[in-house]
Amino acid sequence: MSSSELILSVENLTVGYNEELISKINLEINTGDVIAVVGPSGIGKTTLLRTIAGLVKPISGDIFCKAPKRGGIGYIPQKLGLVRHTSVYHNVDLGARSGSRFFSEPKTWFKRRSERVTTAVERMGLSDKMNEPVRRLSGGQQRRVATARTLAQRPKLILADEFLSELDEDNISIVLDAVKEYMAASESAMIIVEHNIQRATEISTRLLQIKNGELVEYNPSEMKFDLDGGLI
Ligand SMILES: Nc1ncnc2c1ncn2[C@@H]1O[C@H](COP(=O)(O)OP(=O)(O)OP(=O)(O)O)[C@@H](O)[C@H]1O
Ligand SMILES: [Mg+2]
Repeated sequence: MSSSELILSVENLTVGYNEELISKINLEINTGDVIAVVGPSGIGKTTLLRTIAGLVKPISGDIFCKAPKRGGIGYIPQKLGLVRHTSVYHNVDLGARSGSRFFSEPKTWFKRRSERVTTAVERMGLSDKMNEPVRRLSGGQQRRVATARTLAQRPKLILADEFLSELDEDNISIVLDAVKEYMAASESAMIIVEHNIQRATEISTRLLQIKNGELVEYNPSEMKFDLDGGLI
């Protein structure tokens, strides 16, 4: 990575719906950063990502994003939002179509739209499912389609909500290798929500937890987790 550049800055942000879920959020994210957010179910992790993605209005505070307006933020939702009756190719192409034109250098990931789609599908290990309707895929395969859709979009900031759940160890490696390669080539950044703390520790450059309605540095002594690494 050539140089570190600010991609996202969050100032005094409060997120929630009718009630506040997380407040006083201050965060700066630079190229190459992988910020992992952990915390128990229902605490507001998805709401935080949806707010940064622009899908939920902040209660207060500011979000400054340097990523290009069109396609600059790639969101891999917890509830995948795939078009179930159409093919893997079509779903990933929806990402490619909404993609940014940010990158000038035509590296592998950034070529013509159709090549970006096939590259992303192939790197998720789903080439043999290219023309299969999504509804015929397993849960883990569908999750990888959602990740391929986001990579084909060429985002500068990736927001990934539980994108490794339902995957076995081999597929987790496949997905992580592809995402790491994409991030290095694109000089992008990532925020992940991950229920498995061990995994979050391994893949992040910075680990944050939501505690008492605030986003703070992770402190292992304050969280319990079960044998799978999942939060109790
Ligand atoms: N669209 C919505 N409108 C109103 N309240 C919502 C909405 N979506 C979520 N909530 C509420 O906000 C709270 C936080 O939900 P959120 O999905 O952000 O949790 P989470 O930390 O991602 O949980 P999990 O680990 O189970 O995915 C929950 O109490 C939930 O009921
Ligand atoms: Mg969630």
